[in-house]
Amino acid sequence: ELVGEFVRVETDPDHPAVAVVRIDRPKALNALNGQVTGEIAVAATRVAADASVRAVVLYGGERAFVAGADIKEMAELTHAQMLEYSRALQNALTSVARIPKPVVAAISGYALGGGCELALCADFRVAGEKARLGQPEIQLGVIPGAGGTQRLPRLVGPSRAKEMVFSGRHVRAEEALRIGLVDEVVPDAEVYSAGMAMAARYTDGPAVALAAAKEAVDRGLETDLDTGLEIERLQFSGLFATEDQKTGMRSFIEHGPGKATFQ
Ligand code: CAA
Repeated sequence: ELVGEFVRVETDPDHPAVAVVRIDRPKALNALNGQVTGEIAVAATRVAADASVRAVVLYGGERAFVAGADIKEMAELTHAQMLEYSRALQNALTSVARIPKPVVAAISGYALGGGCELALCADFRVAGEKARLGQPEIQLGVIPGAGGTQRLPRLVGPSRAKEMVFSGRHVRAEEALRIGLVDEVVPDAEVYSAGMAMAARYTDGPAVALAAAKEAVDRGLETDLDTGLEIERLQFSGLFATEDQKTGMRSFIEHGPGKATFQ
């Protein structure tokens, strides 16, 4: 299904409950210009709202996940224009981060700048052996502007994030795995299928509970422990208004653990 010229939402017949947000602007290694950014935001809203979608994979094809924000488009912007441009970019990536379902970034090739930042908005990252991740903005005389100074340190810790942001160097898949920047490394040819498999693990799970778990972790990371525990308590108790809780607990009592079939 076409979102626009550069982004499609695809369904794989083997995993019909997983939506693939496919970014396809190969001539610029999927660089995020204003149009691509807008289309990603639309795709995120669409997969978030579609109840038949239970998990999401972000994929950019074999050569590049996304090589960053579009440098050629940005180069001549003024300060005032950049304030709006970066707001749109941040909002689009935040709409990906807020998809209330498990989201996997399947990274083949380059995930640099805005591309690394997009991958950081997924819950999990699978990378090919030759993938390169990084925040090279410093080499352009700027800093990451789509969450890199915020989401990256939350994931890998402040000193590793600073080292990546200060140097702008490319991080290979193997190192990315070691520092927790990616969760799995697979042969390059298997990135897409590994991403699908990772997302498909969750498609039979209780959708409302998965959304609550994601929200509690993500919101909790933004606040103090007491507030986080309160978020957890409200989400946890809220689930007692769901069919899935009835199904899950009844199934345990009648048949033992792990046997429940959720809608
Ligand atoms: N913006 C615009 N165009 C880009 C691009 C980008 N971020 N990345 C690649 N392209 C274009 C190249 O200009 C080239 O176009 P032409 O064929 O018209 O010359 C095409 O994509 C193919 O790229 P290369 O020929 O450079 O391919 P390569 O294999 O030699 O190198 C690369 C690949 C190392 C990824 C290199 O393209 C590169 O360094 N790209 C830029 C990476 C970068 O700096 N990203 C950060 C952008 S700033 C940002 O993202 C800010 C933010 O946080 C919001």
